Amino acid sequence: MTFSFPFTLIQETELSEPDSALIAAARRACLTAYAPYSRFHVGAAALLENGETVCGSNQENASFTVGTCAERCTLYYANARFPGVAVRTLAIAACKDDGIFIPAPITPCGACRQALIEIEQKQRVPMRLLLYGSEKIYCIEKAADLLPLHFGANTLDGQ
Ligand code: THU
Repeated sequence: MTFSFPFTLIQETELSEPDSALIAAARRACLTAYAPYSRFHVGAAALLENGETVCGSNQENASFTVGTCAERCTLYYANARFPGVAVRTLAIAACKDDGIFIPAPITPCGACRQALIEIEQKQRVPMRLLLYGSEKIYCIEKAADLLPLHFGANTLDGQ
């Protein structure tokens, strides 16, 4: 048996206007990162069902595990500001200290994938992901695709 999932490879020039705007917001959000340890600045922008865009970034700490990734910062902030409003699309971008965006698409870490999936399941509509790299962009239609055989609430129920 094999797990596979569909994704689209997009060039920046091919983006729709809303996707382009969301990626621009994620890129800008990199400026708000607090990343003195990794020097890796990640920004995320969530487009909500109500039309609002909420942005966030990675926030680090000298006690490394206390820090938070941009994706979780953004999604938790979105739900705190607009409880229960679905996230339609989440765009992510990353740059180094020099402000140059990484060429390959930034992909969420495992912990963020777990968080993304639970939020997607709760909202009952797919969350699209736009993973930005300066040379190419990946578009993934639903967060669950990124973590096959994930642990979730159903697992706790024995299903
Ligand atoms: N980071 C994110 O914010 N998102 C990701 O998808 C991967 C990693 C952050 C965590 C840490 O602050 C820094 O990038 C280096 O791992």
